[in-house]
Amino acid sequence: MSKRFYITTAIDYVNGDPHLGHAYEKIVADTIARSHRAWGEPAFLLTGLDEHGQKVQQAAAADGKPAQDYCDGLAERWQAFVAALDISNNDFVRTTQPRHQQVVQALLAQLHAQGEFYKGEYVGYYSPKQESFLTERDRNPDGSFDPLYGEVIELREENYYFKLRHHQQWLIEHLEAHPEFVVPLYRRNEVLGFLRNHELEDLCISRPRSRLAWGIPLPFDDDYVTYVWFDALVNYLSVPIARDEEAGLWPADIHVIGKDILKFHAVYWPIMLRAAGRPLPRQVLVHGWWQKDGQKMSKSTGNVVDPMQVIGDWGVDAFRYYVLRELAIGPDGNWTQEGFEARYTAELANGLGNLVNRSLSMLSRYRGGILPARHDELQADAQRAHDAILQQLHAHELQAALISIWAYITRANQYVDQTQPFKLAKDPAQAQRLDEVLYNLVESCRIIACWLAPMLPGTSRRILEQLNFSAPEAGLSQLGWGGLPCGHVIGTPAPLFPRRDRPPKAAGP
Ligand code: ME8
Ligand code: MG
Repeated sequence: MSKRFYITTAIDYVNGDPHLGHAYEKIVADTIARSHRAWGEPAFLLTGLDEHGQKVQQAAAADGKPAQDYCDGLAERWQAFVAALDISNNDFVRTTQPRHQQVVQALLAQLHAQGEFYKGEYVGYYSPKQESFLTERDRNPDGSFDPLYGEVIELREENYYFKLRHHQQWLIEHLEAHPEFVVPLYRRNEVLGFLRNHELEDLCISRPRSRLAWGIPLPFDDDYVTYVWFDALVNYLSVPIARDEEAGLWPADIHVIGKDILKFHAVYWPIMLRAAGRPLPRQVLVHGWWQKDGQKMSKSTGNVVDPMQVIGDWGVDAFRYYVLRELAIGPDGNWTQEGFEARYTAELANGLGNLVNRSLSMLSRYRGGILPARHDELQADAQRAHDAILQQLHAHELQAALISIWAYITRANQYVDQTQPFKLAKDPAQAQRLDEVLYNLVESCRIIACWLAPMLPGTSRRILEQLNFSAPEAGLSQLGWGGLPCGHVIGTPAPLFPRRDRPPKAAGP
């Protein structure tokens, strides 16, 4: 079985609300997966849910439901969220699925048999909210713990620990030898700096069942369940194994994650894999965090962006466009409604929408929708843009690729203003020139639709439908000027991004 490009998102905590950050991460991973498919390379995209742990157990209890029922209900909502975002995932993993639990248990049994774990007693502070043990280092200067940790309790208990110290050196060497292992580079340097300056503490990989029942039982000690992060990370591997596609998928090419979970992916996960004798993922791609109006999004203050609401009001591709165009993969972003609406109007409605609608409408009005002979006035510009876009997509520079596409859209709109086809149409002596201009415009729409397929799949499809043209498989790598033949008959033009007033504000209490 030949290896397929394999890309994953983090798996979201099932008990949280799907928010802008979750949506962004999925759209980034989806666009990269679709890019690979668009140049003819099969790609496998995995997303899913992290369903175990204390928070889920507590939320289910508060809801008066068995934990599994509680998760099943939420999982439907999350899957609807993924569908609404037009994500082309090939599977959807839930950590409560037996196929996943089996792989986690097999890995635990293997590492236990190899002597990677030991049992030890922990005495100290513990945050049930974050499910983590705290040390003196986690205290504020005044002795308190960050509110992020919730109520911090003192705990004395026995647990299983994973010996990490003797994995530290090879991991440093791996990061040094593979600078592309963590992208952007400043995140890789952050991990390297951490590893060079701190001795890794052993990782507690268990929780006593008496305190936390909602987890995967340790295969070698029934009094314990698996620490939720050890469980969750394995999802990336358990799906390939469960599908019997390990040879075709593993190692993962890219794990897309947010900056807050870097240590789990760039330190613990490679150590777990290496200890088990498995190849390491090729890259951890780390995106920044979104704020709204310059502040942390928080349900309690109502300062949130609800992706489902935005999609309902403006359409999924307007949402996808804004998040990909606003933010490169790495830095933090800031959502403002004004910024969103400004991009919608200028770039989607007046830029892309206007170009496609007037090009196709003029061909319909002046030539009955029948394409004249090929003409190459915009070919060189299109070719230059194409080379840049392909190179940017290969480098996963999604924002840069959109900027290149829109530079060409602007060029084509200027071409309309310069050539003034509506004037040419009034002068029978200019019929030949009008033919030339119309060919350049309509062929430009086809090329743009193909470029947009990874980022705005629905819009790409709609443009091609209006053109009455279907893109070939491996469209992007074979894309070249002149694909629309003379005599081709287009379909009916329809606005892609209607200009409009702000949607009515929801009536508040
Ligand atoms: O961390 N902006 O789940 P999660 C951008 N279950 N990204 C954000 C964000 C924001 N404001 N808030 C969250 C978990 N994210 C674990 C992952 S993976 C084996 C287990 C990102 O639901 C966050 O960085 O808290 C993470 O990559 C993803 O959303 C899921 O976060
Ligand atoms: Mg989180």
